[in-house]
Parts: sequence; C-alpha cells; structure tokens
Amino acid sequence: MKQWYKTRKKDPFYIKAKKNDIISRAYYKLEEIDKKHNLFKNDKNILDVGCSPGGWTQYILKKNPKNKIVGIDILPAAEQIEGKIKFYMMDLNQYQLIDELFTSNKYTFDSIISDIAPNTSGNQFIDQTNSYDLSMLSAKFIEKYLNKGGNFLVKNFQGEDTEKLFKFIKNFFDKTQYIKPAASDKKSKEIYILGLLKK
Ligand SMILES: C[S@@+](CC[C@H](N)C(=O)[O-])C[C@H]1O[C@@H](n2cnc3c(N)ncnc32)[C@H](O)[C@@H]1O
Repeated sequence: MKQWYKTRKKDPFYIKAKKNDIISRAYYKLEEIDKKHNLFKNDKNILDVGCSPGGWTQYILKKNPKNKIVGIDILPAAEQIEGKIKFYMMDLNQYQLIDELFTSNKYTFDSIISDIAPNTSGNQFIDQTNSYDLSMLSAKFIEKYLNKGGNFLVKNFQGEDTEKLFKFIKNFFDKTQYIKPAASDKKSKEIYILGLLKK
C-alpha cells in the first residue's frame, strides 16, 4: 500500500468524511471557516472556483439549500451536486471566456470562494508559481462580480508571491486575514486568505 494512502486512511477528517457521506474532506475546512465568520447567511449567490468534486458546495447547500451556486472546474463535479448548481466545466486560464460568460449572464455574487489548486509537480517553486497564478485569477473576479459587503476566500500555496496576493485582495475589503484550518495538513504549504465585507 502506498505511504500517502496509508496516511490518508488514518486521517481523522478523511474517516469522518467517509462515515458521513461527505464528498471531500475539504468540506471540513470550509465548515470551520464558516462557523467562525458566518459567510453564507440567508439565501446567497455564490461562486465556487475549483469546485470539484464538490465538498464545499455540499457544505453550502447543507447550510441552506436555497443558496445558488455557480461552480467552475476543469474536472467533473460529483453527480450528487452537479444537478443542484450551475456548473461550468472550464479552465480558469480561459479567463476571458469566463468573463464574457458571466457578463452575458449578468452574474454577481455575495461570496466568491476558491479552493483551486494546480496539479503538484514536486518542485515547490513551480507549484507555488502555478498556485499564485490560479489564486490571482480567482481574485480578478472580485472587482467586477462581487457585490458590496460580499466576502472572498482563496487558497494559495504559501511562497514569496503570497504577500503580493494578500495585498491585492486587501485593497477591496474592510478586513483581510490569513487562515490555516485544522483540516489543512500541517505539513502542506496551503493557506487561505479571507477578505470580509467588500468596500
Ligand atoms: C482542492 S480541489 C477543490 C476541492 C473542492 N473545494 C471540494 O470541496 O471538493 C482543487 C480543484 O481545482 C481544480 N483546478 C485546478 N486547476 C484548474 C483550472 N485551471 N481551472 C479550473 N479548475 C482547476 C481541480 O480540478 C480541483 O478540482
């Protein structure tokens, strides 16, 4: 048995997800952040970038089935959520196409969340650069598509560009902070940036 599989099988969040029919253990990261910051109050329009297989979407719909979610991913979403959201199987690098699509659909959102992550190569510098590019593309949605008072959450593999990303996001919000949820592997470089209350 491969080492990562052995480690995963012992992971308490993986075990909890399996037991409770949760699509992905990422569910627990969003749950922890939301329990502290109450991001999805009332009926909301939410953009979930890098949404597959669908743990975050599952959490948001469980909290309030009336929440309306637009999801984007290059990979398919789990069957149990695909029919419940507006899902676009697209590459975020095709930003212009997505921008045109959102504009023509007159989309605006109360929350934009992005758990997007590149395939890892094992080379930390390349992985961090790719993560920065995808996190930054997610942050580009803020100006045009996030409503005033809205919130933004994005994942990033921590590196020398992370501070630049943080500063870019900070411009738009009353409060901006870093978060490392308990379900995020301590050894991983993954960190989240949360912007609260768009100005
Ligand atoms: C950590 S997973 C997201 C997990 C998800 N939040 C959940 O709760 O199930 C990261 C996702 O980013 C997606 N992704 C990576 N690069 C992408 C790109 N260029 N465009 C769209 N999605 C991308 C991957 O396909 C993957 O589904």
